[in-house]
Amino acid sequence: MAKGSVTPGSVIGVLISGRGSNLQSLIDAQSAGEMPARIAVVVSNRADAPGLDLARAGGIEAVVVSPRDFSDRDGFDRAIAGALMDRGVTLVCLAGFMRVVGRPLLEAFPDAILNIHPSLLPAFPGVDAQAQALNHGVKVSGATVHLVNGELDAGPIVAQAAVLVNEDDTPELLARRILVEEHRLYPLAVRIVLAGGWRVDGRRFVRGPGFTA
Ligand code: GRF
Repeated sequence: MAKGSVTPGSVIGVLISGRGSNLQSLIDAQSAGEMPARIAVVVSNRADAPGLDLARAGGIEAVVVSPRDFSDRDGFDRAIAGALMDRGVTLVCLAGFMRVVGRPLLEAFPDAILNIHPSLLPAFPGVDAQAQALNHGVKVSGATVHLVNGELDAGPIVAQAAVLVNEDDTPELLARRILVEEHRLYPLAVRIVLAGGWRVDGRRFVRGPGFTA
């Protein structure tokens, strides 16, 4: 059984690939004093990710680590892990990071990597989760924050939020409503993890007694 070791005063590193609206929600939560942690660095695998500018505007160091600069995936993962460890990061938040997290990064941050996904996992992992939900005909979808393990969108679930599916929804409309919930959910999940005292029991993430909403 794994025990949560990330505690208040933690240093957060955020990994992005694009827009960065979830990154912004974490920056806003930090600015509002709602997250007992400091975002020290934002790392993107793409130099053109708009989220890099959001980081800089928030006074946060923005770093690009491009997979093109490495001959294999492990090298890329090690470079990201190194960039995070150099800055004292203790909790990693994936926020629209469109790369599978490999072993070197997982081993550098055991039970200390979070991801946000736009569906109620375990339904609809992978890309285009909102379109998958519509095509399946579910009446409720939502967002999930989970610990990252070696499998795609499959780690222990920290927090979820439900969103009703409308009869006339499109993937874009549904994505927009889910995103509103994502922006509330991610800072909440980070606070749950930072409160400490949690444990992973099989598939279950069990909250610590110290967390108050
Ligand atoms: C979000 O929907 C997130 O759940 C998914 O990718 C999207 C990223 O959006 N993993 P943003 O870059 O945070 O705006």
